[in-house]
Amino acid sequence: MNIGVLGGGQLARMMAQAGSSLGLSFMFLCPDSHACAAPYGEHLCAPYEDKRAQEHLVKWADVVTYEFENIPLSLVESLQRQIPLHPASSILSVVRDRLPEKLLFHTLGIPTVNFAPVDSLEKLINAMEDIGFPAVLKNRTQGYDGKGQALLRKEIDLSAAWEEVGKAPCIVESMVEFRRELSIIAARNQNGDMVFYPVSENHHRDGILRLSISREDDPMQVRAKAKIISIMDNLDYVGVMALELFQVGDQLLANEVAPRVHNSGHWTIEAAETSQFENHLRAICGLPLGETSSAQTSAMVNLIGRLPVEAEIRNIPGASLHFYDKSVKTGRKVGHVTLTSDCSPEEFDLRLAALLQLAGEAELAGRKFFNSTPLTQCP
Ligand SMILES: Nc1ncnc2c1ncn2[C@@H]1O[C@H](COP(=O)(O)OP(=O)(O)OP(=O)(O)O)[C@@H](O)[C@H]1O
Ligand SMILES: [Mg+2]
Repeated sequence: MNIGVLGGGQLARMMAQAGSSLGLSFMFLCPDSHACAAPYGEHLCAPYEDKRAQEHLVKWADVVTYEFENIPLSLVESLQRQIPLHPASSILSVVRDRLPEKLLFHTLGIPTVNFAPVDSLEKLINAMEDIGFPAVLKNRTQGYDGKGQALLRKEIDLSAAWEEVGKAPCIVESMVEFRRELSIIAARNQNGDMVFYPVSENHHRDGILRLSISREDDPMQVRAKAKIISIMDNLDYVGVMALELFQVGDQLLANEVAPRVHNSGHWTIEAAETSQFENHLRAICGLPLGETSSAQTSAMVNLIGRLPVEAEIRNIPGASLHFYDKSVKTGRKVGHVTLTSDCSPEEFDLRLAALLQLAGEAELAGRKFFNSTPLTQCP
């Protein structure tokens, strides 16, 4: 089967790597001449709006998908009229915009932080009476890795923040003091069959994911799973979805949904029976979904803005290195390392600390993640 992908970054690249064992071929429509997925298929290097490139993709592909949500909605709508495409444009139109996305959570009875839509400085000032400080102002669309966001600490920040997010339609939401940040990834096919991965515990710095941990039997698994089932069923979703959550006490608040494979699920390549990338392809191609069970504890560390010496990473037992063949630039994700092992929690923490040091995450390297007080069980 031929798979057309909108975008040609590392998510498209890992999708194509997973697709080779299913005998799938790939074509990427991506305006970036250095698209790192290019070696794994044919690269249509053209603007998304390019009609000839679109025609070529439609002629060649059996099904089209995308690797990120900030692609023109009109393109997805137009392609979907000509060829099977997943997740559907109606789904993208909801989850790429923070306002309908939050309203969907509320319709389904899934709690979120307090929020208000704002489309002028005046409305922002008024909304702050309800929301309170600290808060975060987020552009409704086009955000990723914390971009298009401004922190609101006090009254005086409001005008600068409004400028910073581009005076565009936004939501303002209260800054929540969460105990943990989690995500759950699931795949659903056209028959409504679903599979779920164990939740990931995610650690961000400067709005960018640095570390994801997957523990055996996370106490929040059951609650997270119930939430993603209700969202996917409601949307009649096909493909892989990630739901990002804040754990406040024992309650889970929905942050956002990613209608695609997700950075916090990269550990599934090594540690799960079927990776998130393979299951996304299985779902969109109408194939049976693969087992998601993972026998081991695992952690994934992003390599951001620097490439550590390969040999030093290889010296850490259980470390699997993924470089994306991207040029190094401040704040850019250029690779990741997955650590898997059935060693003791003490030993796992030591290996993870060594890896975090090499990735430049000194603060996280000082913490114990596995050899610590057990997390409270929740029903
Ligand atoms: N209301 C909030 N309270 C506390 N922390 C928050 C809040 N909103 C965002 N954050 C922090 O900022 C990070 C990025 O925010 P968010 O997920 O909304 O943006 P994003 O740019 O779409 O991120 P990405 O696409 O990388 O997931 C969150 O993962 C979380 O760590
Ligand atoms: Mg996010």
